Amino acid sequence: MSVKSIAVLTSGGDCQGMNAAVRAVVRSALFHNLEVYAVQRGFLGLIHDDIRQMDLRSVGDIIQRGGTILQTARCMEFMTEEGQQKAAENLKRRGIDGLVVIGGDGSYQGANKLSKLGIKTMGLPGTIDNDIAFTDFTIGFDTAVSIVVDAVNKLRDTMTSHERSSVVEVMGRHCGDIALYAGLASGAETILVPEVPFDLKEVATRMRENFDNGKRHSIIISAEGIGKGEEIAQTIQSYNGMEARVTVLGHIQRGGTPTHMDRVLASRLGDFAVRRLIAGDSCKGCGVIKGELVATDIDLVVNTKKDFNMELYNLALRLSQ
Ligand code: ADP
Ligand code: F6P
Repeated sequence: MSVKSIAVLTSGGDCQGMNAAVRAVVRSALFHNLEVYAVQRGFLGLIHDDIRQMDLRSVGDIIQRGGTILQTARCMEFMTEEGQQKAAENLKRRGIDGLVVIGGDGSYQGANKLSKLGIKTMGLPGTIDNDIAFTDFTIGFDTAVSIVVDAVNKLRDTMTSHERSSVVEVMGRHCGDIALYAGLASGAETILVPEVPFDLKEVATRMRENFDNGKRHSIIISAEGIGKGEEIAQTIQSYNGMEARVTVLGHIQRGGTPTHMDRVLASRLGDFAVRRLIAGDSCKGCGVIKGELVATDIDLVVNTKKDFNMELYNLALRLSQ
């Protein structure tokens, strides 16, 4: 067996399902007779040796909770070689030879650095953005999309009463997936994402035509990566003269209880990461592609841009007349 003792941490932006992933890592490690430790506050906790041993009960009653019981941090010191050395030494001094990092792209790069210092690492895709390659979905994405869809349902009611249009700004940094899936699922008229060029004048004209054809509201979902929702609303209004209200959903998208999809994904991936470490694997990003668990070199994961699903985008466009 190539690892006897492993640790788990959560890093970067939090997401729903991180706790379910921590639980899976801890319980799977114990099932396989490994010692398992938790690091508080991501890489910051590694540098400060904020590490504690976990048992079965340490992860009780957390599968349903949003946030992360391990807390998370963005740590500048870890970006330096000295910081990374300190982190690796703290793990080695405790005899910890494997580490599961739950986070986004930046956290994966951190895991990459530690693996070069002799720690066996596994990355789990924990981010609502769904912007990590070599997995169909990231942990938290399904819950975030459900939150947006619920919000749009509510907005529709009042927008219809007042015959208004509504710009809903959603998260996703450089990735339009939250906007795409939430837009399709909520029947939004327009989806604006960084991956697809758009012309706001055309958007405004189409809205006017649809209203003239009897539509009583208009929902525009815009990904934060294309700019501020407020500016988009003003530009559209300047073209078609229609009153547009803006809702920025913000961090609400990152909280709350994870959906069953995120809990199942997190549970599968957490257990898989432990089993890969036991099998002697290292420096891999774990994912699920077409239902199958896969482990891909972290170098490749962080250097690959995830494909945008144009088929879904075009479908949303066809259905939203
Ligand atoms: P996310 O993991 O959600 O993408 P960040 O990009 O903020 O979030 O990254 C989380 C943390 O990972 C950073 O605060 C830093 O400590 C570490 N990190 C990010 N990029 C690197 C890098 N290139 N090398 C080493 N560590 C990194
Ligand atoms: O977790 C990813 C993300 O939600 C992005 O969509 C967003 O840009 C970013 O985090 C904002 O995070 P914070 O406010 O924590 O910097």
